[in-house]
Amino acid sequence: MNAKILDGKQLAQTMREEMKQEIADFQKQHNLTPGLAVVLVGEDPASASYVSGKRKACAHVGIYSREENHPASMSEDDLLKLVEELNQDPKIHGILVQLPLPDHIDEKKVLYAIDPAKDVDGFHPFNVGQMMIGEDTFLPCTPHGIQQMLMRNGIETASKHVVIVGRSNLVGRPLANIMLQKNTNANATVTVCHSRTKDIGHYTRQADIVVAAIGRPNTITADMVSDGAVVIDVGVTRVDDATKKNGYRLSGDVDFEAVSQKASAITPVPGGVGPLTITMLLHNTIKAARKSIQ
Ligand code: GUN
Repeated sequence: MNAKILDGKQLAQTMREEMKQEIADFQKQHNLTPGLAVVLVGEDPASASYVSGKRKACAHVGIYSREENHPASMSEDDLLKLVEELNQDPKIHGILVQLPLPDHIDEKKVLYAIDPAKDVDGFHPFNVGQMMIGEDTFLPCTPHGIQQMLMRNGIETASKHVVIVGRSNLVGRPLANIMLQKNTNANATVTVCHSRTKDIGHYTRQADIVVAAIGRPNTITADMVSDGAVVIDVGVTRVDDATKKNGYRLSGDVDFEAVSQKASAITPVPGGVGPLTITMLLHNTIKAARKSIQ
């Protein structure tokens, strides 16, 4: 079988055009522009590149964005003060503090300081709890993007077996929760594998949908996937590549060449899940702006 390529770039473009219109209508109706603050501490090149992607995406759809770039030496206290200032700023409806933070800053302390009503990452325990019990809340962007990718490509999850490899708070755990929910875009049977799972292939071979979110290139090989499975690759690891101008290429967690011969559909890296993550951040920012006037 030659897998259908699930094109995240194209889908993100379609969704962003929809949002552009939604924001224009919202502005007309409420005289309010949704606003997002993105906080970057330090100079990690991958983080800086994500943040710049977020800024461009905001500009494209008409979201006001405020970028806060600070040196790695920024103190935890100063960062907490900045978060509090953003919590109070009426022009800002969503706050995203780019992770990872430098070692001297307690990540939890910072994430928990964000007003849950502005927590467009969906990382605050209040929103995590809301998601867990199926309340309408901010869903974390990457798992929400994966759900959209499946839905909008007509891939049913109801009564399907979704096997997730990876249990991070960013992807694996929230995706398991989302896929378990009692609604037509979920209703899946979910298995979560992780670094201590014995024989991951034993589980992934039973999957209708495999989601690889481990962060290690080529972990999911062709022998681990059954014929006709749908494969979603969340990994983005920079791998040295002297043939590239910038000296590296991005690699997913899946052996794309071999697995795409067996799967019915597969996401590429780059251009798969990545563009949808930012798109769902825009979605959450619009949601936060709507909530602010309710
Ligand atoms: N770093 C990598 N992914 C994410 C994300 O989704 N949100 C934040 N805040 N930081 C990240």
